[in-house]
Amino acid sequence: MSFTELWESLLPVGRDAATGGYRRFAWTEEDAACRGWFIRAAAERKLRSHPDRNGNLWAWWDQPRTASGPRGSGAGAVVTGSHLDSVPDGGAFDGPLGVVSGFAALDLLRARGFAPARPIAVAAFCEEEGARFGVACLGSRLLAGAIDPRAARALRDGDGVTFAEAMAAAGYDPGRIGPDDGLLGGISAFVELHIEQGRGLEDLGAPVGIAEAIWPHGRWRLDFTGRADHAGTTKLADRSDPVLPFAATVISARQAAANHRALATFGKVTALPGAANAICASVSAWLDARAPTRALLDATVAEILVMAERASHKHRVRLRERQESFTPTVEFDARLRNRLAATLDTSGPDSPAVPVLATGAGHDAGVLAARVPTAMLFVRNPSGVSHSPAEHAEAADCEAGVTALADVLADLAGTGAAPPRRTQGGGGW
Ligand code: GLV
Ligand code: MN
Ligand code: MN
Repeated sequence: MSFTELWESLLPVGRDAATGGYRRFAWTEEDAACRGWFIRAAAERKLRSHPDRNGNLWAWWDQPRTASGPRGSGAGAVVTGSHLDSVPDGGAFDGPLGVVSGFAALDLLRARGFAPARPIAVAAFCEEEGARFGVACLGSRLLAGAIDPRAARALRDGDGVTFAEAMAAAGYDPGRIGPDDGLLGGISAFVELHIEQGRGLEDLGAPVGIAEAIWPHGRWRLDFTGRADHAGTTKLADRSDPVLPFAATVISARQAAANHRALATFGKVTALPGAANAICASVSAWLDARAPTRALLDATVAEILVMAERASHKHRVRLRERQESFTPTVEFDARLRNRLAATLDTSGPDSPAVPVLATGAGHDAGVLAARVPTAMLFVRNPSGVSHSPAEHAEAADCEAGVTALADVLADLAGTGAAPPRRTQGGGGW
């Protein structure tokens, strides 16, 4: 099956007819359809697929017999993959491109007659966007032990349904979620392919690039509580309107981000009760903040929160703020990155070396980097637009991504030198 056929077989799943955007949220019907697609893609390739204890999906090629139990991944496995969930009205590529490219790269390796010396797997991680339960990269965080399973079980969606309830309703056992050192310990390298979420490659005229680092980033929830009242009879001086400090905070966030070379966004807001003729009782708003360094991020967030507190005080509104998730700076494994660069290097007088780029976008690779040597490949996005139905990559660039991924997997899982081992940090490498 060609990349295009495989890609098109996933395209209808979870696409909203009105917006053309995707709504693939963890443990929903659309998520089940994505899971079904993954299991079929694995079966068609005679790959052994299974969910791990956190609901992430794995499909294994040529798994040798190991002593590490029924789900044992085999020593030194090379894993690729990404996620199938989306933000509300997200694009088709963010996540799925990495999963589809993983299967397509395996097809290409087989067509080349490649015989892996170590297992190769394609993985799809659960709730990467955090669109339903608020914490980004939840499946990979659980796997890597980067979140307490009890805290994860208790996370609630917008309707008050807990992660545990939703997972159980989808037929998975939330009692088993948590770190899986057996699975991670058998992996020697993880390489995630992802559409670029900016115009770096477009500006450089390159179809494929390599990730250098991920900016530190996090999410903060701000709850402004005032008092509902009549829009037509309540004097301005008598109001306790939570929309006012919220609005002031949005403007302050823009300024703080500009002051510190950072990015700050309020992309999700709920204002209750939501009547045109009533002053709101409460506003809940989610701040997403990212910056090139931890110091710049801390300064940005501190400035925004101080302004939120001042504005709340001024308008007699109560403010409660809490961090919902945080990912520190990720520097991808330098030895693995150099090895990818060497594998993909066709530079000569007329062709430059493969670009190496930092990004402000979060990824499962960023979470797994704390435990496993990890790298990322980016595929050119001509407009740079992402988290939007307008997200796009040209078919030829997707094919170039598959070829690059196949070359990288062949190098890492072939008979040559073993992938680089971690020399420090977690995971006991
Ligand atoms: C995921 O795409 C993120 O950067 O939030
Ligand atoms: Mn995303
Ligand atoms: Mn993504």
